[in-house]
Amino acid sequence: MSQTPTTDHRLGFTSLEEETAVDSLPVAGALPAWLAGALVRVTPAKLEVGDRRLDHWFDGIAMLNRFGIAGGRVSYKSRFIDSVAYRDAQEGEWRHGGFATDPCRSLFKRVQSMFSPDVTDNPNVNLARIGERYIAMTETPLPIEFDAETLETVGHLEYTDKLKAHVTTAHPHHDPERDELVNYHAYFSRVSRYVLYGMPAGSSKRRVIAELPVKEPAYMHAFGMSGRHLILAEYPLRANPLKMAFAGKPFIQNYVWRPEEGTRFQVIDRETGALRGTYETDAFFCFHHVNAFEREGELVIDLIAYDDPSIIDALYLNADGPRGTIPSTELRRYVIDLDGGGVSWEKLADDVELPRIDYGRRNTRDYRYAYCSRSADAWFDQLVKVDVTDGSQSVWSAPGCHPGEPIFVRQPGTEAEDAGVVLSVVLDGPAGRSFLLALDARSFEELGRAEAPHHIPFGFHGQFLRA
Ligand SMILES: [Fe+2]
Repeated sequence: MSQTPTTDHRLGFTSLEEETAVDSLPVAGALPAWLAGALVRVTPAKLEVGDRRLDHWFDGIAMLNRFGIAGGRVSYKSRFIDSVAYRDAQEGEWRHGGFATDPCRSLFKRVQSMFSPDVTDNPNVNLARIGERYIAMTETPLPIEFDAETLETVGHLEYTDKLKAHVTTAHPHHDPERDELVNYHAYFSRVSRYVLYGMPAGSSKRRVIAELPVKEPAYMHAFGMSGRHLILAEYPLRANPLKMAFAGKPFIQNYVWRPEEGTRFQVIDRETGALRGTYETDAFFCFHHVNAFEREGELVIDLIAYDDPSIIDALYLNADGPRGTIPSTELRRYVIDLDGGGVSWEKLADDVELPRIDYGRRNTRDYRYAYCSRSADAWFDQLVKVDVTDGSQSVWSAPGCHPGEPIFVRQPGTEAEDAGVVLSVVLDGPAGRSFLLALDARSFEELGRAEAPHHIPFGFHGQFLRA
């Protein structure tokens, strides 16, 4: 590791070891008086374990960051999640594998771990509210509950059903009518299966919505939900679970890219659990769905597409940050003719990632605005508001600044889809620290910023929790 302090994006790939609590951050400009709550994000903050740099960005040890906002004032707090992975890391050990970092265990241990719950619980990807509970998640089915005020770890969320799973997503949906969290997991076996389930607020028992047998499960980071359907976009990046158990490779390296097989949309009826259809198109890879909705016999699916999964390889780490070149993306609109079976698509925007919408009001419905981060000339150096109806864009950027995921917060009592603010945690490279940025969602101009006392390593996702 270089000991030279960095003043560019590399600072975002530098570990943050300290936990901090500050009552009041310096604020420049002004945050709206109506904005009250907390932006809580989870970030892979610790990127070394013992003397070893972790192999992949997706394996960094999870820390929670909380910007509390009230009356134009902003507090800040950070705390590591007290996972088994964190405790191991404090002892300088990496015992449980992860996404791509090899725990270097024996073959016997590898086989044992594949078929036992000995997998990572490092919840560094995303967080969700389930009723009055808050969980942090990774892609193993071991979410960890935390206190959204103090950031203290409560403990693993213990399911009260008997469902078995090996991988899941950290991008659950929320069904407001049933008030339940909706997600999918994959169970690896001789006959593997995808299971789509709902888990009601206040319960830890998952309700099976649908099961799909699958020979070689695809790696899927997220999925889509429209008014009537759940959508699995199966990219041809697949693993053979039986080979996986004996191959002894880190998790993601078991997945093989076979573009000749194309991508398949598995469309499932939310009410009956029946498979509405399987719809094929040319191969692409994707982490993030943006939105999905029905329209006169058609199913519209917006997502961030890559030509192939080389982004995963690009995000292996060296001392400075990602080892590879970040490939380009397209915000695409796929349109499925549900009865005819045809799939077509069009490009809505270039080179965007980490998409967010006005989820509470527009998810599952036709919508107008997607908010994204973009790597234009450097690592995530723009925020972009895309009007998906005509492709027009508004862009925010500032010299030396690297903004993370833009999170839309609606102004209460308003109707317009973009009435509200967009919040993002931005690394200011030259200043050597991060700040919370608030943009007017309509004009996409800066309203204010609150300076954190230090840099905050780049992270993936967070949520605004209303007061
Ligand atoms: Fe994600």
